[in-house]
Amino acid sequence: MKRQLTGLIALTAVGMAAIAGCSSERTDDAAAPSAATTGGSDATVCIEPGSVIGVALPQKTSENWVLAEDLFNTGLTDAGYEAIVQFANSGVTEQQNQIDSMVERGAKVIVVGAIDGSQLGSQLENAKASGATILAYDRLVKNTEAVDAYIAFDNYQVGVLQGTALLEGLAARKGDGPYNIELIAGSPDDANATPFFEGAMSVLQPKIDDGTLTVVSGQTTFEQVATQGWKAENAQKRMDTVLAGSYAGDVKLDGILSPNDTLARAALTAVEQAGKDVPVITGQDSEVESVKSIMEGVQYSTIYKDTRELVAQTIASIDALASCGDIPINDTEQYDNGVKIVPAFLLTPKIVTQDNAADTYAEDPTLGPVVAEYAG
Ligand code: GAL
Repeated sequence: MKRQLTGLIALTAVGMAAIAGCSSERTDDAAAPSAATTGGSDATVCIEPGSVIGVALPQKTSENWVLAEDLFNTGLTDAGYEAIVQFANSGVTEQQNQIDSMVERGAKVIVVGAIDGSQLGSQLENAKASGATILAYDRLVKNTEAVDAYIAFDNYQVGVLQGTALLEGLAARKGDGPYNIELIAGSPDDANATPFFEGAMSVLQPKIDDGTLTVVSGQTTFEQVATQGWKAENAQKRMDTVLAGSYAGDVKLDGILSPNDTLARAALTAVEQAGKDVPVITGQDSEVESVKSIMEGVQYSTIYKDTRELVAQTIASIDALASCGDIPINDTEQYDNGVKIVPAFLLTPKIVTQDNAADTYAEDPTLGPVVAEYAG
């Protein structure tokens, strides 16, 4: 996914200035903020209260998707809509059929958490032709005009936070450099996996270039380090091979860039089975088992993308259409889906380590109590 990137972005969850100055390459110089951009997409649609709303979710590859299912069902029903919320556990074909069925059942809005954002074009064009509004949720839908808005956490910033955390963790836990590291990326069919990796490498590549970091296996491209389907067994198997091939004897592995918590725990299992010391390892999604691992000093960091915020913002977009208003947007420059710049509402991801977990999760009904267990 080509991403039209602007200068340094400072976004909050309430939507503030998106900085002008679109360029084909991400530039790090902070452009002067333009006037606040909180306009909506060019939606001219008005939906009836009680409309049918389709929510096509991918697969339960991490806890945030399971939570999203519950939040959409309760949130949409409480708001008076007729909700059709479905996972496509058996893959892309099932998701394509589910979207077609949502159209047949009269869905006025279809929220899409794509398994593969590049394989839904004809289904979404059909949905648009039926008069539905299409909202891409968390993952961008690619290569089609038939998407009205994108609602997600800033995925490139997720990667920047992960790369930064890895460097901070190495300095905190592994003494002075240079350090040996390995890289893991997400599933190649997930539009998010690329900005996660690109964001992290924007921080790590300069340190590889100057010799602070060495990827001993030599596997540094997205294609080499991607994990099909976000499957833990695929990440563990690859780490087993890398450890056997590049870390024989007392060659140390100081750090691992992991794009989410599930793969971080899989990589830690491989490292433990290889008899190596625990590396500094990143993650994402604030999964319960990983938050416990962080509090126990094992996993170094995760990312908090509060699913309650993301679902609430999506339902707010649907409510805007129900009152014949614009979908709230705070970015009209960054997300090029291959045929158009998709207007977006980007939420702010947060890095979490042992030091700030209690504060970060204080209001989270699940994670607050988990962290409280480690207090005192
Ligand atoms: C991504 C999502 C991450 C994580 C991952 C694994 O698209 O943004 O938060 O859930 O999928 O499924």
